[in-house]
Amino acid sequence: MTHPTIEHPTVQTPPRGLQPARWPGLIERYRAFLPVDANTPVISLNEGNTPLVAASRLQRRLGADVSLYLKLEGANPTGSFKDRGMTMAVSKAIEAGSQALICASTGNTSASMAAYAARAGVRSFMLVPHGYVALGKLAQGLHYGATVISIEGNFDQALQIVRELAQTHPVTLVNSVNPHRIAGQQTGAFEVVDQLGEAPDYLAIPVGNAGNITAYWRGFEAYHAAGLARRKPVMLGFQAAGAAPIVLGAPVAKPETIATAIRIGNPASWCCAEYARQASRGAIAAVTDAEILAAYDALAREEGIFCEPASAASLAGVLARAQREPFPPGSTVVCVLTGNGLKDPDTAIGQVPGTLTPVAADVAAIGRLLGL
Ligand code: F0G
Repeated sequence: MTHPTIEHPTVQTPPRGLQPARWPGLIERYRAFLPVDANTPVISLNEGNTPLVAASRLQRRLGADVSLYLKLEGANPTGSFKDRGMTMAVSKAIEAGSQALICASTGNTSASMAAYAARAGVRSFMLVPHGYVALGKLAQGLHYGATVISIEGNFDQALQIVRELAQTHPVTLVNSVNPHRIAGQQTGAFEVVDQLGEAPDYLAIPVGNAGNITAYWRGFEAYHAAGLARRKPVMLGFQAAGAAPIVLGAPVAKPETIATAIRIGNPASWCCAEYARQASRGAIAAVTDAEILAAYDALAREEGIFCEPASAASLAGVLARAQREPFPPGSTVVCVLTGNGLKDPDTAIGQVPGTLTPVAADVAAIGRLLGL
C-alpha cells in the first residue's frame, strides 16, 4: 500500500487503518448494560468519560472530613449530559428505521438531538419555550440544522404537543419519556462508580423533567446488582424554588426560575424521581435562585468551573443542606454539574457588576487602572 505524499515536512499523515487510542463512546464502553445488539447502528460522538473533579476548596464548607467531587457533564460533545441518553435514543430510532426526530426542550435536549440527528443524517424538529432558552443552546440547534419552533408557551405545553405529534406522525419522540434516553443516562452513575472505585455516599443532582435522577438511580441499582458497587448512594434532588412541583406535591402552572433549563412545572418522570428518593432514603428539596447563583459563582471563582445555572442547583442544595444537617464525617458527596456554562453567556455576564467600558490603549493608564 502506498501512502499519500506528505507535502508539509512537519505534518505526518498517519497510516490508514491506524486508530489513535481513544474512548469508544458510552454505548461501546457499557454495552453489557444497554439494550443494544449487533444490529444496532451506533450513532456516537464519543460522549461520556467526563471528568470527576475533586472540589478541595468548596468541600471545606461541608464540614470536617467530607469529600466533594463534581461530575463535569458539560464536557460532553454538545455540552450537557443529554448526549448520554441521546446516543442511545438516536441509535435505537435509526435501528427502527426512523427518518425524523422530535422533542420539546429547555434547550439542552434539543441541542443534543439536533447533533445526533445530523450525525445520523435524519431530520429533527425542536419545540422550545419562546424567550426562555439560553442563547448558546438555541445557536446549537440552529447550527446543527434542526427545525426550530419557538412556542408561546412553556416546556410543559411543548412536551404535550410533541407527545401528540409523535403519536400521529412518523417522527420519533426523543424526550426522556423515551426509555432509551433513561437507559443511556444510567452511564453517568456507572462512570461515577468507576471513577471513585465505589458509589459515593450522596449523589446530588438538579431536577427538571426528572429523567436524570431516575436514570442515575437506575444506574446505581444496576451496578450494585451486578456486583460492581457495594453500596448505593443517598439521592439528593434539587428543584428551583419557583419550579418545584415535586417538593410542593402539585404541578406548578407558571414555573419561574433563572435556571431556565429546569423551568418545568409538571415533570414527566415525577413518579420515578419519587421512587429514587424513597428507595435511596434521599430527599428532593428546593433551592432559591439566589442560592443557585451563589453556587454558580462559587464554582467559577473557587474551583475554576463554569457550569450553567441549573447545574449549580446541585451544589446550592448540598451547601444549604450542610447548614441544616451536617454530612457525616468521612462521607463522599458527588454533585452532577449537568451543563456547560458557555451555553448561557447572558446570565454569566449579567452576574458581573458594571459594563465593559473601553479604555484608551495606553500602558501607563492601564497600569494605574489595574492598581499595579
Ligand atoms: N440540568 C440541565 C443543564 C438541563 O438541561 C436539565 C434538563 C436538567 C438539569 C434537569 O434534568 O430534566 O432530567 O430532570 N433539561 C431538559 C432540556 C428539560 O430540555 O434540555 P431532568
